[in-house]
Amino acid sequence: MSRLLVTGGAGFIGSNFVHHVIGHTDHDVTVLDALTYAGNRDSLEGLPADRVTFVEGDITDASLVDELFGQVDAVVHYAAESHNDNSLHDPRPFLDTNIVGTYTLLEAARRHGRRFHHISTDEVYGDLELDDPARFTEETPYNPSSPYSSTKAGSDLLVRAWVRSFGVAATISNCSNNYGPYQHVEKFIPRQITNVIRGIRPKLYGAGENVRDWIHADDHSSAVLTILDRGRIGETYLIGADGEQNNKEVVELILELMGQPRDAYDHVVDRAGHDLRYAIDSSKLRDELGWTPAFGDFPSGLARTIEWYRDNEDWWAPSKQATEAFYSSKGQ
Ligand code: NAD
Ligand code: DAU
Repeated sequence: MSRLLVTGGAGFIGSNFVHHVIGHTDHDVTVLDALTYAGNRDSLEGLPADRVTFVEGDITDASLVDELFGQVDAVVHYAAESHNDNSLHDPRPFLDTNIVGTYTLLEAARRHGRRFHHISTDEVYGDLELDDPARFTEETPYNPSSPYSSTKAGSDLLVRAWVRSFGVAATISNCSNNYGPYQHVEKFIPRQITNVIRGIRPKLYGAGENVRDWIHADDHSSAVLTILDRGRIGETYLIGADGEQNNKEVVELILELMGQPRDAYDHVVDRAGHDLRYAIDSSKLRDELGWTPAFGDFPSGLARTIEWYRDNEDWWAPSKQATEAFYSSKGQ
């Protein structure tokens, strides 16, 4: 493998992956990204121009996709509409990008015989009760709750069908909640950090008891590279780092790390259909492929993330006002 096509490489996790690939491997990268509201070319700043090529374009553009597949050895597919709250407001772009976009890429993978890795989410499995000792495994039945997670579930099923029906050499990974640099301020952790920086009180949906299983984006990247190198074709791998925390605990920790009183936040209107708890059992990835996360300690990873948002206000400030206006129109 020498040149990777990374779709969605100007987004949060995709850009972290491109930085990781350039820092840890000798692969070159072509990024294909439509630069929606969530994409930002500045997230790729500082990367060597002789190893990273940026193409602005849409994954539903079949002729562009076909041309790019002809120039690369493998494809890692991150591009998506990714935010649950947006999918409750306007589901249509989620169908176009997550379903039709993935279909367009799979058809090109089939024509060109390219290795394909599909990035997905633990949300395809629905949610768990707070007191349930169970965690998601690769055998958990699909049961998505939101327009976002249902389109991701649909895209996973397309990948499985293209493997079985057309012999596409694909793998799938379903990861838990990521945190780290370059995450859009609409998402929970950067929203609260940038709220505190701006003197706005953090906003907790409902009672704040919902649990998410946090993993640093850099650990997600190393897991994806491991699957790309050693994963078995046709297989699904769950990615997680044993990072379960409820939202209240996370907000309180952010406030404490930023030198504020731990109770200086507001409860706001809950998300419709809000999933209660996600939890990942990543034994298959660890036992079969030997992957382990490097960021074991959530508080220190969070402290580094807070530092990054403090140091990079130019990166997030242009999106902050519109994001908060959208939330306040919904009482959130
Ligand atoms: P993001 O919203 O930050 O980035 C998405 C990127 O895709 C943006 O750069 C955007 O411009 C691009 N894009 C959107 N539509 C496109 C289109 N039609 N054509 C080309 N590019 C397009 O998302 P993220 O949080 O980085 O998520 C990336 C992937 O990881 C998604 O597939 C998501 O489902 C998955 N995932 C995310 C998380 C998480 O915690 N954020 C966890 C597990 C899996
Ligand atoms: O589990 C993986 C998924 O994680 C990914 O597939 C999604 O792309 C990603 O956005 C994320 O989904 P969530 O809905 O879990 O993430 P979000 O950051 O939107 O919210 C995290 C939790 O915080 C959730 O329980 C809702 C809550 N929340 C969110 C916001 C924005 C708040 O309490 N207040 C907020 O202001």
